[in-house]
Amino acid sequence: MALSIDLSGRVALVTGASRGIGREDALALARAGADVALADILLESDASPSATEAASPLAQIMKARGAVFAEATAAEIRGMGRRALAIKMDVTDRDAVRAGVERTARELGSLDILVNNAATLDHVARLEHQRDDLWERDLRVNLTGMFLCTRAAWPLMKARGFGRVITVSSVAGTLGGYGQASYATTKAGVLGFTRSMALEGARHGITVNAVVPGVIATEAFEMTDAGMRQRMIDRTAFRRAGAPADVANAVAFLCSDLASYLTGIALNVSGGIELFTF
Ligand SMILES: NC(=O)c1ccc[n+]([C@@H]2O[C@H](COP(=O)([O-])OP(=O)(O)OC[C@H]3O[C@@H](n4cnc5c(N)ncnc54)[C@H](O)[C@@H]3O)[C@@H](O)[C@H]2O)c1
Repeated sequence: MALSIDLSGRVALVTGASRGIGREDALALARAGADVALADILLESDASPSATEAASPLAQIMKARGAVFAEATAAEIRGMGRRALAIKMDVTDRDAVRAGVERTARELGSLDILVNNAATLDHVARLEHQRDDLWERDLRVNLTGMFLCTRAAWPLMKARGFGRVITVSSVAGTLGGYGQASYATTKAGVLGFTRSMALEGARHGITVNAVVPGVIATEAFEMTDAGMRQRMIDRTAFRRAGAPADVANAVAFLCSDLASYLTGIALNVSGGIELFTF
């Protein structure tokens, strides 16, 4: 029998799925057979601002440029013969998270897979210039959001004795990042949460694993300073950025039965950026 990633019959919720890595995760899970809810603070049809969005320069730019694809991606997934939903959900809003998880379970039948992908990446400044409001926002979105989504999904997974929780860290969290005090702190925190939840989940059939992307060519990455981008690419062993699909393939694998004995790991999808190079 051929070895394959088969997620048919599984239901996934991906946060931050409007673009970039989250969107690609949703597509990969659907291609492997899962039904998918795509949650994001931005939807094409609902651009009403929330407090979190209002504090996010990148969200404003992406909205203005029309780089918001949650509903289009849900339609694309339905075109594959899967079920899919686009849900307006701010991961920092407890009520919205509860409602989003409930809606996924109600309309798609269960919740087996949670991908905690939503994050803010646009606060790059040296310590003296780190902004208090963006520091707080980064902790709220990248850490509290992950906590709220996982806590809301947990009882559904426990009840079924099966779950896959994927968290999205970053090499900024494992290596540090110049000008990334808030972001790197949150992405290191993601790993502590992942390992603790792996211990709690194991007795309920729930695995909890992190992917640790390096330099991935998403819309957000392409908007960073060109010189900085090239310096980061030059640090990878491959001398090139990864594609969102490189991360999504790792996510799909971790969600599959092939990864049943993996939990609490941090899987680098980084083209070897952490290796000593010169
Ligand atoms: N692109 C990279 O090079 C890279 C590297 C390492 C880690 N990562 C991680 O990968 C993930 C995705 O990165 P990306 O490059 O696709 O970024 P991105 O900014 O393109 O995507 C993030 C998504 O999260 C959504 N979002 C932001 N705040 C939200 C909130 N409060 N509630 C719900 N949704 C919210 C955004 O609308 C967006 O769709 C992030 O966790 C990021 O930290 C990316």
